[in-house]
Amino acid sequence: MAVSWKSWPNLLWIYLILGTTGVSGQFELQPLNSTVLQGSDVRFRATVQGQWNVMTWNVGGFLVLTVVVPGNITSSSQFSATFCSSDDSCVDFTIHNVSRRDSGPVICSVQGQYGSRTAQLNVEESGTVSIMGGNVTVEKEQHVEFKCITTAWFPKPAVSWAQNGQDVNTSLYNTTSMFDGDSYTSTSVLQFQAVTNTTVECQATVQTLINPKTTSVFLSVVPKPPDWTVLIAVVVSFGGCALLVLLILGIIFCYRRRKEKQSSYQDEMSRRVRRQSQGQGQVNTGYVPEGRTSAAASELNDSGFCQANGSNIAERPDVKSNQTEKDYSSAYHNVDQSCFRKHRHVTIV
Ligand SMILES: *[C@@H]1O[C@H](CO)[C@@H](O)[C@H](O)[C@H]1NC(C)=O
Ligand SMILES: *[C@@H]1O[C@H](CO)[C@@H](O)[C@H](O)[C@H]1NC(C)=O
Ligand SMILES: *[C@@H]1O[C@H](CO)[C@@H](O)[C@H](O)[C@H]1NC(C)=O
Ligand SMILES: *[C@@H]1O[C@H](CO)[C@@H](O)[C@H](O)[C@H]1NC(C)=O
Ligand SMILES: *[C@@H]1O[C@H](CO)[C@@H](O)[C@H](O)[C@H]1NC(C)=O
Ligand SMILES: *[C@@H]1O[C@H](CO)[C@@H](O)[C@H](O)[C@H]1NC(C)=O
Repeated sequence: MAVSWKSWPNLLWIYLILGTTGVSGQFELQPLNSTVLQGSDVRFRATVQGQWNVMTWNVGGFLVLTVVVPGNITSSSQFSATFCSSDDSCVDFTIHNVSRRDSGPVICSVQGQYGSRTAQLNVEESGTVSIMGGNVTVEKEQHVEFKCITTAWFPKPAVSWAQNGQDVNTSLYNTTSMFDGDSYTSTSVLQFQAVTNTTVECQATVQTLINPKTTSVFLSVVPKPPDWTVLIAVVVSFGGCALLVLLILGIIFCYRRRKEKQSSYQDEMSRRVRRQSQGQGQVNTGYVPEGRTSAAASELNDSGFCQANGSNIAERPDVKSNQTEKDYSSAYHNVDQSCFRKHRHVTIV
């Protein structure tokens, strides 16, 4: 191959590359590490310097694509390749709708002295997110718990919570994850005290997911009903007070009545004693003071219907002592029953 003096700079450049990177500079694979989400497309680029004829791509241990120069590529629906430069030095290899099975080494080999290059493919999987129980209604200040379940994720997702769009402090929730051999299932438990209506959102994400997968429920907070214990306590204490007051009133009433009876009994007794002594006096002396009798009669007259009894008492002065007492007591009974209450002053005679 004849080299004109104008090509010298190019040649010098190639020599420089070869000098710094060695033979590998002739064949490169980019990127060497790729992490993508399942279902997306992933692309690798091979650049080969110089003359080459056959290039093969291996994914998951299988030969999936062959490129033959000049310009023939075997492709399938999932694996394809295109020349990205006119001189066949650059090939773009694409895996469509990548799946977790495709994870692992992606090997590009070029027939001849070029050998092979290996890139690492990581496929992540985003699964489902759901909050158990759905919308809930609780009373104000009630303790609430939300459980978020994420299934079929790979690798372990980062689970977080938001309330009304604001991230929740991590101290309010716990997340545990379990690997079932294929994917991760996580359970996150959020606990807090209900204050006001809130939208509660559970978010799960993996590195390659641009927007976290979310689900949300609505927490309705209703006012607390009246505290029955307080109400009952109030009622009971008021009732107790009322009972106490009633009891005291009852005691006072009874005491008064008793005193009344007692005083009336004493009155009666003193009157009885007086009358007895009066009767005895009459028996002994045979003397009845006119004024008293008339006074008694006149006073008894006030009560009208008991006049007869009163006069009875007054008109039996000359009986024996024992008899008198008996008579007086029966007479008194008559007086008591008929008019004592009405004319207490009668007894003062
Ligand atoms: C590539 O190969 C196919 C058959 O495998 C053939 O039909 C086609 O013409 C070839 N293309 C080129 C550019 O050689
Ligand atoms: C992608 O692949 C999965 C199986 O791995 C298949 O169920 C799905 O239909 C494919 N999607 C597309 C768009 O081809
Ligand atoms: C989260 O809560 C803890 C204590 O409960 C507190 O120390 C911390 O500052 C809080 N973090 C944020 C970001 O509010
Ligand atoms: C999280 O777990 C720790 C230890 O198991 C526990 O002390 C803490 O109360 C839990 N927090 C929540 C919000 O469940
Ligand atoms: C939960 O509440 C929201 C907002 O009130 C409503 O849009 C949604 O339909 C409710 N979901 C269920 C399952 O009731
Ligand atoms: C909370 O939500 C319920 C129904 O979802 C509604 O009736 C109530 O008015 C709301 N309360 C406040 C304070 O917004």
